[in-house]
Amino acid sequence: ESIKVFAPATVANVACGFDIFGFAVDNPGDEIILRKKVSPGLEILKIEGDEGRLPLDPERNTACISMLAYLRHINANQGISIELKKKMPLGSGLGSSAASSVAGVYALNELLGRPLTQLELLPFAMEGERFASGTAHADNVAPSLLGGFVAIRSYDPKIDVIKIDTPAELFATIVHPQIEVNTRDARNILRKETSLKNTITQMGNVAGMVAGLMKGDYGLISRSLVDVIIEPVRAILIPGFTEVKQAAIEAGALGCSISGAGPSMFALSKDRDTAKKVGEAMQRAFAGVQIDSEIYVSGI
Ligand code: HSE
Repeated sequence: ESIKVFAPATVANVACGFDIFGFAVDNPGDEIILRKKVSPGLEILKIEGDEGRLPLDPERNTACISMLAYLRHINANQGISIELKKKMPLGSGLGSSAASSVAGVYALNELLGRPLTQLELLPFAMEGERFASGTAHADNVAPSLLGGFVAIRSYDPKIDVIKIDTPAELFATIVHPQIEVNTRDARNILRKETSLKNTITQMGNVAGMVAGLMKGDYGLISRSLVDVIIEPVRAILIPGFTEVKQAAIEAGALGCSISGAGPSMFALSKDRDTAKKVGEAMQRAFAGVQIDSEIYVSGI
């Protein structure tokens, strides 16, 4: 018995929503194949597309950490062999570890006859994030698991996830520069406190973003795609950040910011043509600082 599952990459934060907003894209993403085996325990047979960088030891592999947490919860000791195909770059700000964890727990739940609902899988996928980055944030795993645009209202005492409707026409451009940012480092450089003034601005933008998406008000979405707390600190990790952002806006994007912890940058646009042009403009701006990059365009 075997199963193959694809889980998509995600853009976390979406400018103003640090740790609370994220959306899934059509591509790239990760694929996992699970097979039941006779002897108990998880065994990784192979990982492709990671240039040999991910650990094969289940205790140190994020997808397996999530799967082990799930198996403990349902009190099962079914043996499973695993093949993981990384179809997206690591350390890119596209939720690479999240996609593997989501693919793993989703596939496992299906293989075992679906004892838990899709939403109930979320805490186990989050365990992989805790291992990978030091905190169990859900802004990558939740949209990768549920699809679409997701807001996380609360983490404590219980995770409270809200799916937000988006306009029929809304496109994301992601440009991934060929540099790497470690999520743990990108979290460690953040200030632990923020001013009341910036908090108020950020809350206004979060409210504007949710309302803009639900009403299909592109002007409101555009005005709300602003991050006054995290982006100014993390921008220093991305060479050419200011130029790339400006290029996206000049090419017609509604807004542009860092995807997750970076270094990828994302922009939102009203139509696919604009989203493509925005990607080319962003890529040219990265080239201007001698950085090669890859463009992904996707509907949301
Ligand atoms: N919200 C997280 C961060 C996403 O920005 O650190 C990265 O995985």
